[in-house]
Amino acid sequence: MAVLVTGGAGYIGSHTAVALHESGRRVVILDNLSNSCREAVDAVRALTTPDMAFVEADMRDHRALDVVFETHDIDEVIHFAASKAVGESVEKPLDYYDNNLGSTIGLAQAMVSHGVGRLVFSSSCTVYGQPDVIPVTEAAPTGAQSPYARTKYMSEQILRDACEASALDAILLRYFNPVGAHPSAMIGEDPYGVPDNLVPFVMQVAVGRLDKLQVFGSDYDTPDGTAVRDYIHVVDLAEGHVCALDALAAGLGGCTAVNLGTGMGRSVLEVVAAAGEAVGRPVPYEIVGRRSGDIEQIWADPSYAAELLGWRASRDIDDMLRDHWNWQRTHPNGFRG
Ligand code: NAD
Ligand code: UD1
Repeated sequence: MAVLVTGGAGYIGSHTAVALHESGRRVVILDNLSNSCREAVDAVRALTTPDMAFVEADMRDHRALDVVFETHDIDEVIHFAASKAVGESVEKPLDYYDNNLGSTIGLAQAMVSHGVGRLVFSSSCTVYGQPDVIPVTEAAPTGAQSPYARTKYMSEQILRDACEASALDAILLRYFNPVGAHPSAMIGEDPYGVPDNLVPFVMQVAVGRLDKLQVFGSDYDTPDGTAVRDYIHVVDLAEGHVCALDALAAGLGGCTAVNLGTGMGRSVLEVVAAAGEAVGRPVPYEIVGRRSGDIEQIWADPSYAAELLGWRASRDIDDMLRDHWNWQRTHPNGFRG
């Protein structure tokens, strides 16, 4: 039997494919390479096995999905494939609803019709918006504030309904802010164009691709005035997916949302300082105005993941930035250079 990893050529999917292989599973990656490349799949194979299956297909191609289920003995699925840029989702909301909801609905239909019952879904802490109570638990009200965030919220609802009406069981993993790279530095985050996210931007400044970081806002109600997030090592996140599949295989039924975070909040300036330590010199930055749509602060209460999945993050911010830097300095232009 095998686990289907949709979006497995991407940042989190590639790290998870490695962790799944290490757990003894046979992995089938499906990706349309819209935000990733074949070299990422090659690097995953180099880290694991040259036999790892890769299917280049679009999740919305129902026939292609049927063929994958018919030919690969799939008995569990992790669904990463989605578009994820918040700003772009505001400009092209219909593309985001089409891709993210179309993919999720088509996958759930294919799983039900092929009798595959175990699904782990990539959700996001963005479904909470700015919570009133921090650390945020899974019971907090949701408040998605962008088309991208709403695709995650709606996907969660769609999967809840599908689980209620069928033999499907799902875990909805709400990730906080994934950063870092595999310690081998063979795979890592490779954003197309100028990065939107903090750590990839900082690393591209450090490697000389960009001049300096703009810190968005220093007038937040936080200890140093900059916004606070819960950064989590991508390998910890990957291991969380293995624990989630194990929990489903052990009989966890229904549809359950689980936070994957460290439980520690870090400000933008703390991350910039830690990045300077990892790189060996300060990362230049300037303070500018707030970024529209940003929330002030959020970090996870990760205790439910510990209780339900037996998972907790073990890598700290220095591990995250060291590994991210090792990836960036050895691949200044990403997978292709
Ligand atoms: P990514 O863009 O690196 O990976 C997503 C992969 O999905 C890409 O390889 C892309 O080519 C593929 N894809 C997109 N649409 C597809 C389609 N229709 N058919 C087939 N493949 C398709 O992103 P990532 O950071 O690895 O994120 C993975 C998942 O985690 C996404 O669902 C994302 O929304 C979610 N998530 C990411 C973060 C984050 O900060 N990176 C945070 C919370 C949630
Ligand atoms: C963003 C998304 C969120 C998504 C998450 C993970 C927005 C509004 N939210 O969250 O939906 O789930 O990514 O993919 O885009 N920062 C700077 N300078 C930069 C870049 C970022 O100061 O050049 C700051 C931001 O203002 C924020 C922090 O760094 O305070 C983290 O930003 P980012 O990495 O983009 O993640 P989020 O804003 O948490």
